[in-house]
Amino acid sequence: MTAVGIDAIEIWTGNLKLDLPGTFAPEKGEDPEKYTKGLGLNASSFPDSYEDIVTMGANAAHRLMERKGLEPDDIGRIDVATESAFDNSKPVSTYVAGCLEQVYDGDFHHANKGERKFACIAGTQSLDDAYNWIRAGRNRGRGALVIATDTALYARGDAGEATQGAGAVAMYISEDPDLVELSTDQGYGSADETDFLKPNQQFPSVDGKRSVQVYLARMREALEDYESVAGDVHPDDFAFAPFHTPFPGMVRKAAMLAYRHVTRDTAIEEELAKEIGRQPRAEAFDDKESFHDAVREYMDALKETDRYQEWYAETIDPTLTLSREVGNWYTGSVHIARVSAMKYALQNGQDLAGETMLVGSYGSGAQAEIHAETVQDTWEKEIEALNVDAQLEARYDLSWEDYEEIHDVHNHDMDVDVEEFTTPEAEFVFDGWGRMGERK
Ligand code: HMG
Repeated sequence: MTAVGIDAIEIWTGNLKLDLPGTFAPEKGEDPEKYTKGLGLNASSFPDSYEDIVTMGANAAHRLMERKGLEPDDIGRIDVATESAFDNSKPVSTYVAGCLEQVYDGDFHHANKGERKFACIAGTQSLDDAYNWIRAGRNRGRGALVIATDTALYARGDAGEATQGAGAVAMYISEDPDLVELSTDQGYGSADETDFLKPNQQFPSVDGKRSVQVYLARMREALEDYESVAGDVHPDDFAFAPFHTPFPGMVRKAAMLAYRHVTRDTAIEEELAKEIGRQPRAEAFDDKESFHDAVREYMDALKETDRYQEWYAETIDPTLTLSREVGNWYTGSVHIARVSAMKYALQNGQDLAGETMLVGSYGSGAQAEIHAETVQDTWEKEIEALNVDAQLEARYDLSWEDYEEIHDVHNHDMDVDVEEFTTPEAEFVFDGWGRMGERK
């Protein structure tokens, strides 16, 4: 069977930055370490006043098309995953296609366009749609452009404000991919939940503490479901495990849950059991009344072990580097976690070809999905081509007053004078309705 997967990825960050320990923490009267150590974040990306989900998505897609030498005729499908859409009828992909058609000779009249919504997991769902479309043989030799783009803003004063972010990830899905092959096996954990909602409103209504518990519960179900099709997995099976990262502290919890869940009756389990005094499997917690206390006790001991810390440092920590600097990109978040890990491997001379990654996607509402990906021989060239570090470096550092102003600009309900903090260069810009997508 021909491999199908991600051929190339490009990232586009919002052009502004909010420093959390330096600017946000003093204003909130909080210890900066709450953000850097507790949540695990240094900064958030924000869109300038000429940027929005369309421009960021189109800019990421344009970079990808240029680098891979793609023309509109090579793309049979454009799916945009977002939870920041501004139009309940016309999908964001049509706006993105309109931008791209300004700079290419051909057009996208032949392409099937859509918009995917299920909170942050929609980016991965769009990958799945592309995969299924190609596997079904309906692609006529073409690939799919998948764009995950969001402006993840919270109301000022909301607990989620520290986790904001904005950016886009564009991916080309094709046969014989250059980056990763997607596995056929998937596992799901899905339930009707109301901890994070945006019912016709700009900013989410969030029960933050509960959202953390729902994330963990759905992720555990997805792991179990994945194992029911793929067979038992083991912590050391994977080079990296990129998870949806609303903030790195969330992944710290998810990683422990995953590690405990997939630790089997092996030498590792025996060693840990000796060190910790308990087996990690649920059936070993015979005192059912204090089950949660027993799990917590096990987890607290687990995270102190050298074995777990080494595994975390090798398999999880490298996935968090970009997220620390940009915050939550909602639909793009798990996809920048994948890129973070692969950048780390490249920088450290780690040969990833043929290695497997376990990818954990999640969206509030709520659904988790687990799948595996196999890294392709040509991965290094793809990762070397990214300029994300330069993009992050070039961001304008907002003062607190700047931040309040730009936050108001992006709250569509408010009539605020628009100031530009940066100057757009060879990129699509939002210049008011009717002139969207102009390339300056
Ligand atoms: P909070 O209540 O302000 O923070 O907001 P906290 O008091 O819980 O502290 C956070 C962590 O910092 C804690 O660590 C503290 O101990 C630690 P933990 O105990 O959890 O490991 N801390 C410190 N550490 C060092 N030095 C200090 C210090 N002070 C505290 N001085 C909350 C946290 C998550 C509630 C908030 O950020 C929030 O509401 N976020 C938005 C919702 C969210 O991101 N939920 C995540 C799961 S749901 C999800 O991922 C889906 C999502 O992406 C949306 C979608 O799918 O569309 C959000």
